[in-house]
Amino acid sequence: MKQYRYEEIAADIESKITGGQYLPGHKLPSVRAQKERYQTSLSTIQSAYDDLLLKGLVESVPRSGYFVRTRPEPLPKAGETMLIRDPVFRNNLAAITSENLQRSALSEFNVAAPGDLLLPQQLLLKTMQQVIREKGAALLKYYPANGLAALREAITKRAAHYNTRLQANELLITDGALQAIYIALSAVCAPGDVIAIESPCIFSVLEVIRVLRLKVVEIPIQPRTGFDIAALQAACSIHALKAVVVTPNFHNPTGALMSDEQKRWLLQVAQTNNMAIIENDIYGELFFNGQRPCTIRSFDNSGLVMTCSSFAKSLAPGVRLGWLSPGRFYSQAEQIRFAIGSAVSPVYQETILRIVDSSAYEKHLRTFRQQLQAQCNQSLRLIKDYFPAGTRVAKPQGGYHLWVQLPEQQDTASFYRYCAQAGVRFTPGSAFSFSNRYDQYFRLVFADKYTPAKEAALRKAGAYAATPR
Ligand SMILES: Cc1ncc(COP(=O)(O)O)c(C=O)c1O
Repeated sequence: MKQYRYEEIAADIESKITGGQYLPGHKLPSVRAQKERYQTSLSTIQSAYDDLLLKGLVESVPRSGYFVRTRPEPLPKAGETMLIRDPVFRNNLAAITSENLQRSALSEFNVAAPGDLLLPQQLLLKTMQQVIREKGAALLKYYPANGLAALREAITKRAAHYNTRLQANELLITDGALQAIYIALSAVCAPGDVIAIESPCIFSVLEVIRVLRLKVVEIPIQPRTGFDIAALQAACSIHALKAVVVTPNFHNPTGALMSDEQKRWLLQVAQTNNMAIIENDIYGELFFNGQRPCTIRSFDNSGLVMTCSSFAKSLAPGVRLGWLSPGRFYSQAEQIRFAIGSAVSPVYQETILRIVDSSAYEKHLRTFRQQLQAQCNQSLRLIKDYFPAGTRVAKPQGGYHLWVQLPEQQDTASFYRYCAQAGVRFTPGSAFSFSNRYDQYFRLVFADKYTPAKEAALRKAGAYAATPR
C-alpha cells in the first residue's frame, strides 16, 4: 500500500528520535528548514509534524517550534506489574454490550466486528444457501465434537502459508475465539491460579478470567514497543504463572504488533518458566501492508503454545466458528470442548469450509484489508481535525481499533455522558483492565465506512472534548 510523503518523513524523524539522534527536549528543525531538507511543501512537513504530535513523540511550543517530547510515557509504577489483581470488574459487561439504547439513533464506534457496509453478506449468504440446498437433511445430524475433518484440514493448510504448523487431528473447532480461550485457560489452570494478561486487555477475556476465578498480573503494552516481555520475565521471577494470554498480531485495543524477535523472546520466557502461551491470532489476517505476520506457534517445538483464532473478525461474528490448537494440552482441551456441549452448527462448518477452501476468502480479505486501511487513515485524520491538541493515538498496521488517549485535563466521565446523550458510542478505557489505569482512554473501532452522520458524530464528540469547561 502506498505511503504518503508526509508518512515517510514522519517515519524518518521518528527513527531519529527512537535511534537517539534527537534526544528528549531537542528542538526539531523548523517547518521551513525541513521543507528544504526533504525537498517538499510546507504543508507536507506540517502533516508529518502533526502525525508525530498525534503519536505523542513531539510537542509543539507556541512561537518556539517543535520539540522531542520530554515527558515519559505513562509507564506503570515500579512493582505495579508484579501486583496480583483479583478480577473485580468495575464495569458491568452487560452495560457495555447490551442494547439498552436505540441502535438507530447511534453512531457506533464500539462494535469490534465488520460493520454493515463492509460485511461480506453476499458471499456468506450465497454460500450458506448452497450448503443447505446441497447437503439438505445431513445438516441436521450430529457432527463430530472436534469439528468436521475437512474443515480442520483446510484451516491447517491455510495456516501453513504463514509458517504456522498445525495438525488437523489436534485442532478443535470452537464456536469462536472466546470459547477457545475459555477452553485453553480451563485446560491449564484451576481456580486461584495466577496468569499474565496484556494490559489493556479486551473485556470479554477479562470476563472469562473472572468466571474461571483466576488471578492476574497485568503486563503493560508499551506505546511503541508493545507487550513488555521484560516485565513478564520479572513477574515470572516472583510468581508461578500458569499461562500468559496474548494477541501478538494487531492487539485489541492498541493495534500493537509483536515483531518476530519479540515472539521468539516471549516463547523463550514461557519455555524457561514452563508456562503455557495462549495465543489469540484473531486479527492476524487483517494486516494493511506487507506480509501476513506469523504466529508464536511458528517458532514453537515445545507444545506450550495454544493458538486460537476465529472467523468473527475476518468474515462475520454471527457465523460462530473458531478453532484452538492446544499443543501438548490437547487431551485436557478435548475433554473440556466435549463437556461444554454441542458441536458448532453444521451449516456454519460447511459454509466456512467452502469459503476457506476456495479463492473467495483470499479475494474478500484483499479487499477488506484495503478498506480497513482506508477507514483507519480517515479515522486518524478525523481525530486530528476534531479532537483537542494533546489527544494521542498510535497508528496501527492492521486490525480495526484505535486506542485514543484524551488530554489529561479532560473529564472523561462527562465526556462519556455527553457521547451517550449525543448518540455516539465508544468503549471506555476503564473496560480494558481490572486496574484504574485507562480512564483517560477510549477505543474507537473503524470496521465500517464513514457516512456523513458518523463523521458528524465524531465531530460532535471531538468538539465536546475540545471545549474548555
Ligand atoms: C482479541 C479478541 N479475542 C476474542 C474475541 C471474541 O471472538 P469470537 O467472537 O470469535 O468469540 C474478540 C472480539 O471482540 C477479540 O477482539
